Amino acid sequence: MTIDTKFWAVVPAAGVGKRMNADRPKQYLELADKAVIEHTLLRLLSADVFSAIAVAISKEDPYWPELEVSLHEKIITADGGKERSDSVLSALKSIRALASDDDWVLVHDAARPCITATDIKLLINTLRDDDVGGILALSSHDTLKDVQGTFIRGTLDRSHIWRALTPQMFKYGSLKNALEIAEGNPAITDEASALELQGLQPKIVEGRPDNIKITRPEDLALAQFYMEHQND
Ligand code: C5P
Repeated sequence: MTIDTKFWAVVPAAGVGKRMNADRPKQYLELADKAVIEHTLLRLLSADVFSAIAVAISKEDPYWPELEVSLHEKIITADGGKERSDSVLSALKSIRALASDDDWVLVHDAARPCITATDIKLLINTLRDDDVGGILALSSHDTLKDVQGTFIRGTLDRSHIWRALTPQMFKYGSLKNALEIAEGNPAITDEASALELQGLQPKIVEGRPDNIKITRPEDLALAQFYMEHQND
């Protein structure tokens, strides 16, 4: 890493969040007096490490322009895509003229508002001299079953199983290239899987369990609880 290597954040925020059964996409639901995505972006901004944050927003999204944070000088709005990986690629393209291939990009879900500066800095400090990059992840405490229908086929060896969180940190050039090659592949559900497809081996960095993704209605109360108890 050279002295002028920059860090960029990419936030895919163009999903509809069907599992919330709400009147609006989950990133716009209210959490402690703000929209979920406002918390997420304010936390990324306050980590004070990013040159800019590219946010992928659906073209038909009426909520984004209403948020003050959308006008922040470090926020760049990009068009969202059909799948999460399309949204990430679109956001990467929106900073093409600003970023170098060797800069680091941290991709973080809009729906993970409890991200802390501690975890962002842990990921960066662990991987900044790495060749490939990696992701925040959590080990699994539950016994994991391989199931077909309602029948258990077997029990997985959980010592090898980690849950992928975000941010996921990769070099601008290799991430863009990996996502372009993987375009349309339904197996690409996070950035790491696009790099894995290239035969690369991203690393895991153990993250905090309070970095939850808002997926179901009850997650909002849990996120609020975590936020009230986080002091770093
Ligand atoms: O649906 P899921 O929780 O996996 O979405 C993770 C993140 O990806 C969310 O922040 C969502 O807004 C974003 N996303 C996107 N474009 C899509 C689908 C999801 O930016 N087409």
